[in-house]
Amino acid sequence: MTTQPKYQHLADHYRSAIRAGSLLPGHRMPSLREVVRQHTVSLSTAMQVCRLLESEGWLEARPRSGYFVRPAQAAAKLAPVNDPPMQRAPDPAQYLGIHAKVSAFLALGRMQRFKTNLSTARCAPELYPAKALQQAAQRSLRLDPEQLVRAAPPQGCTEFREVLAQRFNRGQIPIIQPPVGDKTSATDNWNLTPIKSLSASDIQITNGCTEALNLALRAVAQPGDTIAVESPTFYGLLQTLESLGLKALEIPTSPRTGISIDAVELALRNTPGIKAVVVIPYLQNPTGSIMPSAHKQALLRLCQQHDVALVEDDTYSALVDDSVLRDDPLRAIKSWDDSGHVVYCASLHKCLAPGLRLGWISAGRWQARVEMLKFAASRSNERLGQRAAASFIASPAYDRYLRHLRATLATQRTQTAQAVATYFPPGTRLTVPRGGLSLWIELPNHLSATALFHAALAENTVIAPGTIFTNSNRFESHLRVNCGWPFTPEVDRAFARLGQMVGELAGKP
Ligand SMILES: Cc1ncc(COP(=O)(O)O)c(C=O)c1O
Repeated sequence: MTTQPKYQHLADHYRSAIRAGSLLPGHRMPSLREVVRQHTVSLSTAMQVCRLLESEGWLEARPRSGYFVRPAQAAAKLAPVNDPPMQRAPDPAQYLGIHAKVSAFLALGRMQRFKTNLSTARCAPELYPAKALQQAAQRSLRLDPEQLVRAAPPQGCTEFREVLAQRFNRGQIPIIQPPVGDKTSATDNWNLTPIKSLSASDIQITNGCTEALNLALRAVAQPGDTIAVESPTFYGLLQTLESLGLKALEIPTSPRTGISIDAVELALRNTPGIKAVVVIPYLQNPTGSIMPSAHKQALLRLCQQHDVALVEDDTYSALVDDSVLRDDPLRAIKSWDDSGHVVYCASLHKCLAPGLRLGWISAGRWQARVEMLKFAASRSNERLGQRAAASFIASPAYDRYLRHLRATLATQRTQTAQAVATYFPPGTRLTVPRGGLSLWIELPNHLSATALFHAALAENTVIAPGTIFTNSNRFESHLRVNCGWPFTPEVDRAFARLGQMVGELAGKP
């Protein structure tokens, strides 16, 4: 065994601290004197450590201030995930086998309690406001002790639906008037379209976004119909399509700007029987893409022209980084919908409380049918969770909590991206989304992420391989990893090992 020189050993220590987030980007590195004192080393060893870390890009020296941790240095060196050919004609619509493939992966991933589970898209429980929700629930029970023994309203509690409608309306931008004499063309003038605001009566409460999506698809389509979806997309949607006897038509989707509008147009013109297009405009699962406003508007116009439903899955917009909103304010496609073609589905799962199983749907021209289907399928949601959520969301604490959550997720995304950049072989591609809790990675040289999934499983780590996000044979080299949990030394080690495994796969004939 070779013994490392002391300065290299100490450099390892500080690299791990940066990766694990104990030393954050932009923060000051302990001074040379502190390094000397803490590790009982000479001044020249301390200087060697800092110079080495500086040469590797971990630290930067600032005149008369010392050394500072450089922001996301390694991750910035990785190229983004490739766009698919965006004008490709869609595959033939299909439904066979989606369920079997996804379910097989999910079953393997659930077989035992894994040491490191990077396969979910969820935050650690401690990031959610358990105490505040508990207090809100207790208050609600004190004020109305009989609520657990009375039937709840089928559409959902009025106060909850009112709060959701207010948040929806508040999230949209005000109408911007053009300067006097502006000759901008009508089609460019998306921001002049009056905002479609929602009221409580437009909203049906559901059992998470999953039930909302099920109701949406059942309302707009019959078994045997075709639904255009992003490719890759959230595997739960593919399972829902198959369970309802619907065919999926996969449309190329960019990890930056979302679904290809050209390919949707082609599909709507050439494929008979398309009843809906389903998109996740904000922080698409799994790619993290955000659709620019112009794309959202163009998609709405296409759906209106072809008289097809536009199902908008807005599970993640509360987790969009504040910096995005300066470029393009938060605006749901629903807010432009003057014809009732948009079926808006959302959830509190990712942004507030996975345990409450609360979602909602506002279905435009299909609202009455959705309400009937919900009543037939599962009756009402229970009151207590709705009331606790309503009282927390209505308080100023909700925005404070969301700001903190977004900042924490930003740090964890940076740490995870750093680990991928540090440990995975050259040629790995990574798109770091502007919000949310997942990273979408492309392995180099067409290496198989399915093989990586099995190798990692054998060592108690679970990832989400790209193949579960499609019914095609694409995305075999892609994987999604979760950044919703604190980046602990254990997670760091798991990424180091995953990187080695990718290297081993590359070495295999
Ligand atoms: C895009 C998307 N839609 C819907 C869901 C399901 O949401 P819920 O748990 O509220 O049913 C998820 C969960 O991962 C998701 O990522």
